[in-house]
Amino acid sequence: MNIKKVGVVGCGLMGHGIVQVAAQGGCTVIALETEQAYLDKGISRIEKSIAKLASKDVKKGKLTEDQAKDWATEVRGRITGSINREDLADCDLVVEAIVEDLDAKKELFGALGKLCKAETIFASNTSSFPVAEMAVASGRPERFVGLHFFNPVQLMRLVEVVRTDATDEDVYAAARAFGEACGKTPVSCKDTPGFVVNRLLVPYMVQAINMLDRGDASAADIDAAMQLGCGHPMGPLTLTDYVGLDTTLSILEGWCERYPNEPAFGIPDSLRSKVAEGKLGRKTGQGYYTWEGDKKS
Ligand SMILES: NC(=O)c1ccc[n+]([C@@H]2O[C@H](COP(=O)([O-])OP(=O)(O)OC[C@H]3O[C@@H](n4cnc5c(N)ncnc54)[C@H](O)[C@@H]3O)[C@@H](O)[C@H]2O)c1
Repeated sequence: MNIKKVGVVGCGLMGHGIVQVAAQGGCTVIALETEQAYLDKGISRIEKSIAKLASKDVKKGKLTEDQAKDWATEVRGRITGSINREDLADCDLVVEAIVEDLDAKKELFGALGKLCKAETIFASNTSSFPVAEMAVASGRPERFVGLHFFNPVQLMRLVEVVRTDATDEDVYAAARAFGEACGKTPVSCKDTPGFVVNRLLVPYMVQAINMLDRGDASAADIDAAMQLGCGHPMGPLTLTDYVGLDTTLSILEGWCERYPNEPAFGIPDSLRSKVAEGKLGRKTGQGYYTWEGDKKS
């Protein structure tokens, strides 16, 4: 099964990156948004990113100016924007990257299941919802996978390919090959909460918050310990501030509801209270640190 035409639903932070790497991988891509203004914003981000990559390749001596220009034109030429779902009808693969709202995702896949050709494979980029629930809503669970890309999509080299009990072997293989065509290294994972990366990362962030709240160590020391002792590029509390305390809380709340007996998903009180106070991390200037742009104290 060869994936040539791809639809990407949602052209926000993740979606615009997925559109771009799919086009760089040689696919024809339709980027679907709800409104023209959102679409324009996403496409303009893609154009800037393609131009940046092209000029980097010239600086590195990998491409001449003319070759870089041709490459950028070719990649951009594979991308079409749309605000009509019907335009996705003959896609080989549709990757969903809309807001993290299970009902919205189910509604979308229900509609796509009726609209798209029988062979179309569906994938969700969800970070926290069970893939199987969306697969059932699509009406074609055997042609459904999770394709979990990482932010920023253009730079991060991993994609988690999530298979449910119903996913067909050839659908899984095609999704994995698509991930490779996008320049990523695929890892295979069952449909479990957080898949591989977030299942390890979110409880780790929780443990760091608990450690801070108990007064075992300061925020700066916890972060320095993990950076200098484990070689992590940033410590867990800085990471929590970057991810957003609201996003972290919402992932944990979803998991706690579904898996109430899993101790690793316990929600720290300080996380709840900071979110209630609007201290959401770097984006609001206050989380576990105080932020001025990218500078924290
Ligand atoms: N942000 C991250 O670091 C990250 C990492 C991995 C996965 N994810 C997952 O990726 C998905 C998207 O997250 P994001 O951060 O890109 O969100 P975002 O808010 O930046 O983008 C979502 C986009 O989807 C559009 N949209 C909403 N409903 C739509 C619909 N029905 N049809 C078409 N477009 C629609 C919105 O207009 C918006 O532009 C979520 O499921 C999230 O959990 C996010």
